[in-house]
Amino acid sequence: MARRTKIYEGKAKILYEGPEPGTIVQYFKDDATAFNAEKKDVIEGKGVLNNRLSEYFMLGLAQIGVPTHFIKRLNMREQLVRQCEIIPLEIIVRNYAAGSMSKRLGIEEGTQLPRPIVEYCYKDDSLGDPLVSDEHIAAFGWASQQDMEDILSLSLRVNDFLSGVMLAVGIKLVDFKIEIGRVYEGDFQRLVIADEISPDSCRLWDIETGQKLDKDVFRRDLGSLTDAYTEVARRLGVMPKTSTPITKPTLIN
Ligand code: TMP
Repeated sequence: MARRTKIYEGKAKILYEGPEPGTIVQYFKDDATAFNAEKKDVIEGKGVLNNRLSEYFMLGLAQIGVPTHFIKRLNMREQLVRQCEIIPLEIIVRNYAAGSMSKRLGIEEGTQLPRPIVEYCYKDDSLGDPLVSDEHIAAFGWASQQDMEDILSLSLRVNDFLSGVMLAVGIKLVDFKIEIGRVYEGDFQRLVIADEISPDSCRLWDIETGQKLDKDVFRRDLGSLTDAYTEVARRLGVMPKTSTPITKPTLIN
C-alpha cells in the first residue's frame, strides 16, 4: 500500500495530500489540548464526533451560500477539503462574554453583549495567539482591507447561521472561532471558511440549565467531553452511524 504524504500535523488534526491537486485530506485526531497544549489528553471518539459535526456545519453554510473548504466526508475520521492558503488569523465572534474576554475586561461570564463582537488573534502558538487589531493586520499585510471587509461579513453570517441552528436545539452559541482561507480561481481569489467548526472551537451552553457542551468541559475538568459532544450531535441529529460504540460502554454494577 502506498504511504500518504503528510503535509502538516497540528494539535487536533493531520493534513495529508489529497487525491487530486488542490485537495487535502483532513484527519481528526482524538487529541485534546488546552492552554496552548499545556494540558493534553486523548479523548476517545472526539475526532469522530468533530469530523461529523464539522461536516454538518460546513454543509449547512454552503446551503446558505457561505463558501467553505469542505468537499466531502471520506470516512469516520477524514474529510476531503479544498487546499487553501490560511489567513494567519483566528477570528473569534462573541455573543455573550466568556473566557478570555471576561478575564480581559472583567465582564461576568454569560453577560449578553450589546451586539456580536468580532476579535482577531494572530495565529502563532509560540506567541499564544495574541489579540491584534485591524491596524496590525493591515500594517503587517496579513490581510487586505477588502479581505477584512469580507472576513467580517462572512464571520457574522456564520454567527447568524450557527446561532440559529443551535437555538433550534436548545443551545446558546456563546462564542466561536473560525479560520478563513484563500482559494485562487484564475486571476481571482475567494475567501472560504476553512479548518473546522466543532465544539472544540465554540462555546455552547444548554439554554435551560447552562450546562457546558464544548471544550470548556475539558479545559475546566467539568466531566466527560465525549458525552458533551455526543449530546450536541444527538440534538442536531448527527450521530455517527457505526456498529461499534465510539466510547467504551459504562459498566453499571
Ligand atoms: P477565548 O475566550 O479563550 O479567547 O476563546 C474564544 C473562542 O475561541 C472559544 O469559543 C474557544 C475558541 N478557541 C479556539 O478555538 N482555539 C483556541 O486556541 C482558543 C484559545 C479559543
